[in-house]
Amino acid sequence: MQNYTDKFRGSPGRDGASSYKVPQENHRPAKTLPPFVDRGWRAGLPACANVDLAQRVPAIVAVGGGKGGAGKSLLSANLGAQLANAGRKVLLIDLDLGAANLHTYFGIGIPNKNLAQFLVYQNIPFRSIQLPSGIDGLQIICGGRDESWADMGEFGFGSFSLLWDALLGAECGEFDVVLLDLGAGIQKYTIDFFTSAHLGIVTVLPEATSIENSYSFLKATLIRLIENSGLRSSSCAAADEVRQQLFHSGSSLGKGGYLRKLESLRATYPELVDHLLSALKGRNLGLVVNQVRSQRDIDVGQSMVSVTRSYFGFDALYLGHLNYDDAAWKSLRNNRLLTVDFPYSLLARRIYEISRTVDTTVGLAPTNSSKVRRKVL
Ligand SMILES: Nc1ncnc2c1ncn2[C@@H]1O[C@H](COP(=O)(O)OP(=O)(O)OP(=O)(O)O)[C@@H](O)[C@H]1O
Ligand SMILES: [Mg+2]
Repeated sequence: MQNYTDKFRGSPGRDGASSYKVPQENHRPAKTLPPFVDRGWRAGLPACANVDLAQRVPAIVAVGGGKGGAGKSLLSANLGAQLANAGRKVLLIDLDLGAANLHTYFGIGIPNKNLAQFLVYQNIPFRSIQLPSGIDGLQIICGGRDESWADMGEFGFGSFSLLWDALLGAECGEFDVVLLDLGAGIQKYTIDFFTSAHLGIVTVLPEATSIENSYSFLKATLIRLIENSGLRSSSCAAADEVRQQLFHSGSSLGKGGYLRKLESLRATYPELVDHLLSALKGRNLGLVVNQVRSQRDIDVGQSMVSVTRSYFGFDALYLGHLNYDDAAWKSLRNNRLLTVDFPYSLLARRIYEISRTVDTTVGLAPTNSSKVRRKVL
């Protein structure tokens, strides 16, 4: 079984923590925040993430994909429920800031204890915003009202260090899995959560606009990884040049796409490219095609996975497809979770199958939750 603390163990950073200067990433921390340490940063997390290596870390699964309405929240909510049914302790977090609606899938309104209270107003402890979802083993953190996030301001997003502290600290030590329901779009914090998760799931509809948005999302992820690799290997100038060569409108990629081009740049920027290629391989990326109506729709997933591997260089996996099913809107109308309201629907069955694959991909053992607790160092 995988020990997730290992992923966050920044090998060079452990001893050299005090000598390494952490890049600030537009970050203006609130007065209450602790100083940065670089271990999480060096291990692939955003600069604002502090890692307490003495703490057991849950498997972090982020559901994103760029396009609005692709089924990210439906999948996150029901995947959380299925993992909990299998005996995992799951924390589900609504990270669709400004358009939070994950609570709706559970038939509840926005509670006063929510993520905005914790991150924006900082007037409540993390444990207090973890609320029962109505499903055994599944706790939920709701997003908060839209206007709260406006109060956060342009630089307030540095407060995400508080969330990282909580995710990687004692407040989440009891959970096996933390599931993040990301918003649409390619905002920096969305991409940061996606790239830092142990498993990032891209949810896509089998239609041209959605497929295009998903590729833009992957491109944004790749750009972020290049920037991060530049910062972490102290070769920002090289990262800038590589980014130019890959994404400049005048540059030709050819059939091999970004991956081939990167490999061809290895001779010129060996350290940066090696760092980047290992970052690409070190991330699990899963693809789910939603609202399929035909075999052709299902096949979209397979060809996207192959493009994601060969063109972008990500270690991608087809997690499965979800068929279009009226049970989705009927359960919303009934204010009940789909897998509870229509447990025998084909859609619920598909989500169950995906949950099994996720379980295996993030390395949880097929036993009950007391046995899946990963060991502390
Ligand atoms: N497989 C499906 N069959 C039928 N309807 C679906 C299916 N999946 C999702 N839907 C419906 O599509 C709508 C959007 O789903 P959802 O809220 O999960 O998308 P989202 O990606 O989270 O959107 P946003 O980016 O706005 O947060 C909802 O009304 C949902 O019920
Ligand atoms: Mg959503």
